[in-house]
Amino acid sequence: MTAQVRPLEPGDGSRALRPVILVVDDELGLRESFRLILDDDYEVVDVPDGPAALDVLRSAQVDLVLLDIRLPGMDGIEVLERIKALDESVEVILVTAVKTVRTAVAAMKLGAFDYLTKPFEEDELLSLVRRALERRSLEREVVYLRSELERRHDFDEIVGQHPEVQKLFRLVSHVARTSTTVLITGESGTGKELIARAIHRQSPRRDKPFVAVNPAAIADTLMESELFGHEKGAFTGAFQRKLGRFELAQGGTLFLDEIATLRPELQAKLLRVLQEREIERVGAGRAIKIDVRIIAATNVDLTEAVARGGFRDDLYYRLNVVHLAVPPLRARREDIPLLVRHFIRRFNHEFGKRIDGPTPEALAALCAYGWPGNVRELQNVVERSAVLVEGASIGVDDLPMELSVGAPGDTLSEAVPLNEATDRFERQMVLRMLDRVDGNVSEAARALGIHRNSLKAKLARWKIRARDLRSGAQ
Ligand SMILES: Nc1ncnc2c1ncn2[C@@H]1O[C@H](COP(=O)(O)OP(=O)(O)OP(=O)(O)O)[C@@H](O)[C@H]1O
Ligand SMILES: [Mg+2]
Repeated sequence: MTAQVRPLEPGDGSRALRPVILVVDDELGLRESFRLILDDDYEVVDVPDGPAALDVLRSAQVDLVLLDIRLPGMDGIEVLERIKALDESVEVILVTAVKTVRTAVAAMKLGAFDYLTKPFEEDELLSLVRRALERRSLEREVVYLRSELERRHDFDEIVGQHPEVQKLFRLVSHVARTSTTVLITGESGTGKELIARAIHRQSPRRDKPFVAVNPAAIADTLMESELFGHEKGAFTGAFQRKLGRFELAQGGTLFLDEIATLRPELQAKLLRVLQEREIERVGAGRAIKIDVRIIAATNVDLTEAVARGGFRDDLYYRLNVVHLAVPPLRARREDIPLLVRHFIRRFNHEFGKRIDGPTPEALAALCAYGWPGNVRELQNVVERSAVLVEGASIGVDDLPMELSVGAPGDTLSEAVPLNEATDRFERQMVLRMLDRVDGNVSEAARALGIHRNSLKAKLARWKIRARDLRSGAQ
């Protein structure tokens, strides 16, 4: 008798993958009726005996096996043991005639999910299959939920009104509707991961996992198994089979952070996965189809890395289907007051405080600073100040030194009265801002969060003429 293995349809990535059920029964009629019942919702593969079943399991991804206990040659119990030795996570439902029920119960101890007695009702079969597949997907979800629990979940809101940022938000909701690969670039702390999560949340995949992986945070030797998983015994120390991030993200989104740090051989493997839409666990020797949306992020210039030979150009083109560039915070200073308010609200909530906001001087300092660490740095500064501050507002003194004092060795190294120090500091901030906006008083006032008239008054007091600051003049 020949095995009737129907080739699995190639995954096109646009359609959710259906669970694969392998039917093992020597009676052609029974195999046909299983197929008839299950075909609508599942991929059904059927074979007449144990050896053929094990061949399928070695070469294809199978989620559930419906296994007849009485088979010619190798009997069902032995097949069950071999299936479990091959892959513990494959669920098995035994199909038995009434007289072998006792054997079936014994088989449950060997890891079968349940048994089905012939003849069976269609509904009975369908509900058993559903429950078995649910248990199988539970394992993945537990791993995923555990990692999500470690995150501070609540405030995932993205703040920004700068035109560039607004444009970015529109792009995000546009690409969210598709399954296109997205490349997010931007300096460290600009909000790349936040944007990746927003794409996932707005996509039809939102109920499936969002899984992040950062090669820079994982030892080189473990990275391949982290991405693709491994089989028990695949290498020294692989005591258990482990699912990789790709499999954990099945149906959802995989966020490949700091993609430029991926080693060349893994770049090659990743390229293959993106082309074939299937992965291979380390030590498995068989492919598993995946349906995962990829979002990659980097804070280095990938085109430069490609030119230097540090990053494969073919992989770069595969990833760079839709490009989202997140501007640095210093290029969108008008968002600073908004972000400060946003973070104060958040930390008030977290620390049970009632801070109204920064004083005008503190806000001026926050707006004038260069923010090399971008939004993350701003968030840290607000968090730290929110912890320290006693009163209702965050003052200049509650800010870290690099913000409250201009250049090192400036105000604080000399013993000066506080009001004079404050005045000097304020003057420094205003000058810096005017310098940045090429002497435009209205713009400087807006960025500093004060009224144009009060800025004019200050300038008059300091005898500063804004026009002296134009085009590079000090
Ligand atoms: N526009 C924003 N609105 C609100 N919070 C933001 C915004 N941008 C960034 N954040 C916050 O700043 C922190 C850094 O953001 P995120 O981790 O997304 O940055 P990143 O670009 O991935 O940084 P890195 O390159 O360092 O990994 C996060 O806590 C995030 O919530
Ligand atoms: Mg990040």
